[in-house]
Amino acid sequence: MTKITDKKQESSVNIETPVLDALKKYADNPSVPLHIPGHARGEGVLPKFRDIVGERIISIDTTDEFSALGKLYPPDGPIAKAQELMAELFEAGRSFFLINGSTAGNLALALTVAKENKKIIIERNCHRSVISGITLTGANPVWVVPERLSEWGIWGAINPRDTEKLLDENPDTSAVWITNPTYEGVVSDIEKIAEICKKYDVMLIVDEAHGCLWKFSDKLPVPALECGADAVVHSLHKTGGSFSQSSVLHIAKNSRINAEEIETNLSMLQSTSPSYTLIASLDAARAYLSSEYGKQRIETAIKNSEAVREILTRTEGVSCLSENTDPTKLYVKVNGLSGKRLQGILEIEYNIEIEAATDEGILALSNIGNTSEELFYFCECLKIITRGNYSDITYLEKTRSMPFHIPEMACTPRTAYMAEKEKLSPQDSVGRVSAEIIAVCPPGIPVLVPGEIITEEHLPYLSKRRSIMVMK
Ligand SMILES: Cc1ncc(COP(=O)(O)O)c(C=O)c1O
Repeated sequence: MTKITDKKQESSVNIETPVLDALKKYADNPSVPLHIPGHARGEGVLPKFRDIVGERIISIDTTDEFSALGKLYPPDGPIAKAQELMAELFEAGRSFFLINGSTAGNLALALTVAKENKKIIIERNCHRSVISGITLTGANPVWVVPERLSEWGIWGAINPRDTEKLLDENPDTSAVWITNPTYEGVVSDIEKIAEICKKYDVMLIVDEAHGCLWKFSDKLPVPALECGADAVVHSLHKTGGSFSQSSVLHIAKNSRINAEEIETNLSMLQSTSPSYTLIASLDAARAYLSSEYGKQRIETAIKNSEAVREILTRTEGVSCLSENTDPTKLYVKVNGLSGKRLQGILEIEYNIEIEAATDEGILALSNIGNTSEELFYFCECLKIITRGNYSDITYLEKTRSMPFHIPEMACTPRTAYMAEKEKLSPQDSVGRVSAEIIAVCPPGIPVLVPGEIITEEHLPYLSKRRSIMVMK
């Protein structure tokens, strides 16, 4: 299926783009490039690479060493202006560009908020980068465990009462860290959780990596910054249209988090040679999302997914998760097929690449860049599959690989990570303390965190690994 760029788009996107404009000026007025990067805008790359990616992308591959383009640390020039425009759009106090994804944002937040030996309440199905953060700092996690949606094979929402109970039991907690939505699109009541955090005077961080479009439609859940969160990360590259690896960390207007400390931590974590292409793509995505055209595309993505949901709920043998979810995320099950098998069929026989598959279902996204034809084609293929004679031995034997129990913790993630380690086979590691994060991406939710005790229940998930790092 080919896609035709809508020409209306160009005229309707008429919004400030400081980085993009500076980059255009730079590319249109080439100087003699006796500097890094050494490809010097073209000759220093493999011709095949140039043919594939195009000359223009090579000519704009530069970093922030030129004053006219601005710097990321400390921010100045067009980059500083673009960050301000981002903060304005999302109504944040400060917004920071991330060139190593929301991963970098979560690491910086951990360094700022989750200090050594301090307790922090963390949703157990967080992304592995949150665990990496507290592994760096030595904070002591207290898990808040979401509801388990057994029939769907995924984690569900957080019950705000569980957060409150943990805050009661752990008055020395410094912050609460929630992932919302989950990878599959399940939404927790952040308004209520924010209220509870306010009552206990603790900071609230929301990993909204998958929810950067929420600000732009009433049909989407309420963004955490509007609910009173202190900090939010957005993977703009996931659903907001920017390039892979580019994300944003927002600090709320009245945040209890020190934005200066965040900036210092980010400058320690991120490259000193940030890619201007990535930064420009954030600038462009922000302009796009704030344009009328961008908003229309978001409404179209919602409308398309609503239509698909309606068709699928009327299709025998198919179910689609719909309660408390971001409507643009279609988590679908087909009777008698595991998610992995369904993913294989869609890919091999119908040329459809979905976002992810679990033991039970698949996740497909209705994106701002998708057409209604693509979504309806997906629906049609699912209908054909339900009428076919596909068998799935794995599913019939009910071999599930994802463990949903929360292991016992022997020590903090940092203690385990810094300890002397050895590599053991999965079988031999049962009863030992994991010294690494075990989390296949996607979704990157840790099945084991450093410091947790490995059990028999982990073995099906670990079966594809040859070894595991454990504490000696
Ligand atoms: C909930 C969540 N947070 C953070 C991240 C990390 O984001 P990034 O890939 O932008 O580094 C991911 C990635 O999948 C995620 O799912």
